[in-house]
Amino acid sequence: MSDNFYSRRRSVLAKKMKNHPIKDDDLQIIINAGIRVPDHGALNPWKIKVIKDNKLKVIDEDVIFKEFKKENPEASNESLEIESKRLQRASVVLAVLSTPVEHPKIPNWEMVLSSGAVCMNLLSCAQSLGYAAQWLTEWYAYNAKMLEYLGGRPGIDRISGFIYIGHKIEEPNERRRPDPSKVISYL
Ligand SMILES: Cc1cc2nc3c(=O)[nH]c(=O)nc-3n(C[C@H](O)[C@H](O)[C@H](O)COP(=O)(O)O)c2cc1C
Repeated sequence: MSDNFYSRRRSVLAKKMKNHPIKDDDLQIIINAGIRVPDHGALNPWKIKVIKDNKLKVIDEDVIFKEFKKENPEASNESLEIESKRLQRASVVLAVLSTPVEHPKIPNWEMVLSSGAVCMNLLSCAQSLGYAAQWLTEWYAYNAKMLEYLGGRPGIDRISGFIYIGHKIEEPNERRRPDPSKVISYL
């Protein structure tokens, strides 16, 4: 296989990242890559919410931790510890919202797909710059309070993912990849 960025690209688990700040210039490159995606009709049916600095801690404590405790009153101290610092694993978290609009011709499905493309561009761009990055949803992507906090419209908008970006501690091992013959066929 030819050796190019996409044949080697790999995510780094959020729990294995270091969270010191990333360069502002790099963050701008990543965000701009995120909004440079195929988008039928140029409807921009997505939003990127940049969560960095003190906001990581604020959202961890005011939204994720509170909601987890509410939904899991019997939770162990160990899981409470994990839930109190979810976003703080990263230097920056980019929350991507799918924000579809009514359109006479362009189906909702295509707008949702485009928000996935935003996630993938953010992820790939961060990785191409040498950062550790991972696309996560975890439970709080499906939490109503989180959607509301991020400015999403209940029942319409959805969280496509949280793109965690930080620094590598070590190069990640390869993960299991699909058998091409099972997922690709030539017609
Ligand atoms: C929409 C979406 C949501 C994901 N959510 C999670 C998650 O909540 N927890 C998890 O461990 N992995 C999750 N993953 C998978 C991780 O991103 C995983 O590390 C990744 O698939 C590794 O692939 P890569 O090395 O090809 O980038 C998710 C992937 C996608 C596409």
